Amino acid sequence: MSMNKLIELKNVSKIFKQGDTVIRAVDNVTWSIEDSGKLIAIVGPSGSGKTTLLNLLGALDIPDQGEVIIEGKNISHFSEKQLSEYRKRKIGFVFQSYNLIPNLTALENVMLPMEFLRMPREQAEKRAEELLRELKIEHRKNQKPPKLSGGEQQRVAIARALANDPDIVLADEPTGNLDSRTGREIIQLLKNLARTKNKTVIVVTHDEGIVEIVDEKYILRDGKIIAQA
Ligand SMILES: Nc1ncnc2c1ncn2[C@@H]1O[C@H](COP(=O)(O)OP(=O)(O)OP(=O)(O)O)[C@@H](O)[C@H]1O
Ligand SMILES: [Mg+2]
Repeated sequence: MSMNKLIELKNVSKIFKQGDTVIRAVDNVTWSIEDSGKLIAIVGPSGSGKTTLLNLLGALDIPDQGEVIIEGKNISHFSEKQLSEYRKRKIGFVFQSYNLIPNLTALENVMLPMEFLRMPREQAEKRAEELLRELKIEHRKNQKPPKLSGGEQQRVAIARALANDPDIVLADEPTGNLDSRTGREIIQLLKNLARTKNKTVIVVTHDEGIVEIVDEKYILRDGKIIAQA
């Protein structure tokens, strides 16, 4: 089976300076993400660089050293427009706090990324409904996020992340605000999506309970990937 490299990190570092202190939040990481249909976890203690690493993978940030390579191109050479296109088309983002727009309905929230890419409204609505159905939350499509439970909001947020059919879904502590049972349901859902839609789903977590569900796990400590399990 041939594996297609979606993102490659070569000796990547992200360095923050606070006064006299230099923090290597991501420290010389070499890693690649393949077109795998897998759920991958990045685990590590608070401050180990998980969010910083995810931001580099999603091109929300540019490394200080090393290369982030997407489709053979170093993103340090990308224009703002290319970076934004990459984030909109190739990556779906899922957050701990869902980040849904409170005054739009669940359906409208899912339609939004498609409308940003100028999909006709009718087509966007049809696709948003399909995604909400797949995530078993279609019956709540006309509700606004504040009326939904945390687990329901995260389902809507996952539907939104899938709207533009990205290759990669990046989720930063997606279960951090959920009880453990709902959290496990959400992780199982992400695993099923990875399988059935052949997405690479990368979940950052420090919840050890989740880790047994995932296909691959990488341990991050002090900005370095120290082990794979
Ligand atoms: N914008 C910033 N400016 C300065 N330091 C930063 C910045 N972002 C992150 N850091 C530092 O980089 C290190 C890694 O932070 P990061 O947020 O990636 O950790 P994390 O593993 O996601 O932690 P948590 O589990 O608490 O979310 C920490 O020491 C943090 O204080
Ligand atoms: Mg974090």
